[in-house]
Amino acid sequence: MHSILQCMDCGQHYPVDRMMYTCEHCGGLLDVQHDMDWLRKTVSREFFDKRLGSLDAPYNSGVWRYKEMVYPDVPDELIVSRPEGNTPLYSQPSLTAWAGVGKLYLKHEGENPTGSFKDRGMTGGVTHARALGIKRVACASTGNTSASLAAYAAFGGLNGIVFFQNKQIALGKLAQAIAYGAIGIQINADFDRNIQLVREVGEKFGIYILNSINPFRLEGQKSIMFEAMQQLRWKAPDWIVCPGGNLGNSSAFGKALYEMHALGLIDKLPSIAIIQAEGANPLYRSYESHFEHFEPVHAETVATAIKIGNPVNFKKAVRALRWTEGTVEQVDDQEIMDAKALIDRTGIGCEPASACSLAGVQKLVKQGVIKPHETVVGILTGHVLKDPEATIDYHNGKLEGIVANYPNRLYQSEPTIESLSRILEQAQSPVQ
Ligand SMILES: Cc1ncc(COP(=O)(O)O)c(C=O)c1O
Ligand SMILES: [Zn+2]
Repeated sequence: MHSILQCMDCGQHYPVDRMMYTCEHCGGLLDVQHDMDWLRKTVSREFFDKRLGSLDAPYNSGVWRYKEMVYPDVPDELIVSRPEGNTPLYSQPSLTAWAGVGKLYLKHEGENPTGSFKDRGMTGGVTHARALGIKRVACASTGNTSASLAAYAAFGGLNGIVFFQNKQIALGKLAQAIAYGAIGIQINADFDRNIQLVREVGEKFGIYILNSINPFRLEGQKSIMFEAMQQLRWKAPDWIVCPGGNLGNSSAFGKALYEMHALGLIDKLPSIAIIQAEGANPLYRSYESHFEHFEPVHAETVATAIKIGNPVNFKKAVRALRWTEGTVEQVDDQEIMDAKALIDRTGIGCEPASACSLAGVQKLVKQGVIKPHETVVGILTGHVLKDPEATIDYHNGKLEGIVANYPNRLYQSEPTIESLSRILEQAQSPVQ
C-alpha cells in the first residue's frame, strides 16, 4: 500500500480501508498521506505529460491522470469517473487589466460535468466508497455538492442522500440532485447545522459522508493544482487565489502544492490567497488575530456557495496558508457581484462565489500584497447557471443593497418594429 490516513495534529496513522474523517485519539482532521519516497521514484513532469490527451479511462480524467498522487492503490475498475477535470485556463486581457496584475489566468472549475469543482472531489470520495464496499453516501449541501454527489453516486451504482436547507436553495442544483436520483431531504436548518446532522446520521446508519471533511474528496480536489501547473508547463505562478467557504479547496490546494514542490514537479511554491465574503468571514477574522482565535459566525451573503459560518477545514486551511506564506482577504457582496458581472460579460461566466477570486485579486493588488508584475491563477469554482436569480436581479437593479455598476438591463418591447427600433437605436451591448 502506498497511502495511509494520518492525523494532521498528532500524527496517528490509520489504514486507508476505513470509513473515518477525524482522529480517534485527538479528534484532528485526517490526511491521506502518500509514500513520498515511492512517489519521488515514480512520478515526474514527463510521466504526467505522457498521459495528456489520453483517450482511455482513467487517465482521460483530469483527476486520475495524477492517480499516483490521489489514490494510487485503487483498482482502475472501481474508479467512478465522468471523466472530470481538464478544465480551461482562461486569460482575458480586460480582466487582467482590471485586476491590475501582469498575468491573470482563470481556471474554470465550473466547467466540470455537474458544474462545479466538487466533481473532482466526488470522483475521489465515491471511488473510495466503492473500494470500501459501502452502498450509501451522503452530504449536507449549499447546492453544488448535492448535484455532484447525486451524479457520482448514480454513476457508480450507489445510493446518494443529500441534506438541503429549506431556505434559499439553489433551484437548479436541487433539480439536478433530484434528477440524478438522490434521496433529497429538506431540513429547517442552515448549512452549519446540517453538516452536524449528516455526520451524526452517517455514524448511526453507516453511511459514508462526502462533505469536504472526507480526506479522499480533498485528494481529488488537489488535481486542480496539478492540472493548473501542468497547463502552465510546470512553471508555478506567484499566487493562487480562490474563494473560501468550508475551506476544503484551499486546504487541498495547499497539500497539492506542498507535495508537488517536495517532489520537484514545481520549482517554487505559489502563495495561496483565500477570499471570503464579508458576511461569512470566520477565517478572515481569525487571520486578523494571527489565527490565535477562531469563532464561528452567522453567515449571510449573496454568494450562497460560501455562506458558511463554521468551516470544517479551518485547521487545514491555516496549514495551507502557513505552508505557502498565503493571505486571507474579504470582499463584500457589492464587490462580488460587480466582479461577477465583469467575468460574465467576457463570455466566461461564473456563479457569485467564484467572483471572489477576481474581486480579491484587485483588492490585494491595491493593498500592495500582490505586486503588479506578478502572475496569478484565480479559481472560478462554479458555473454561471448557478444562482441565476442573483444575476438577473443584479442587472435589473433589484438586488437589495447592491448597485449594478456593470448592468445589462433587460428591455421590454411591444411586438412592433417601431418599438424594437427605438430599443435597438439606444441599446448598447456592455461588452467593451
Ligand atoms: C461554487 C463554489 N465555490 C466555492 C465553494 C467553497 O469551497 P470550499 O468549501 O472548499 O471553501 C463552494 C462550496 O460549496 C462552491 O460550491
Ligand atoms: Zn490525532
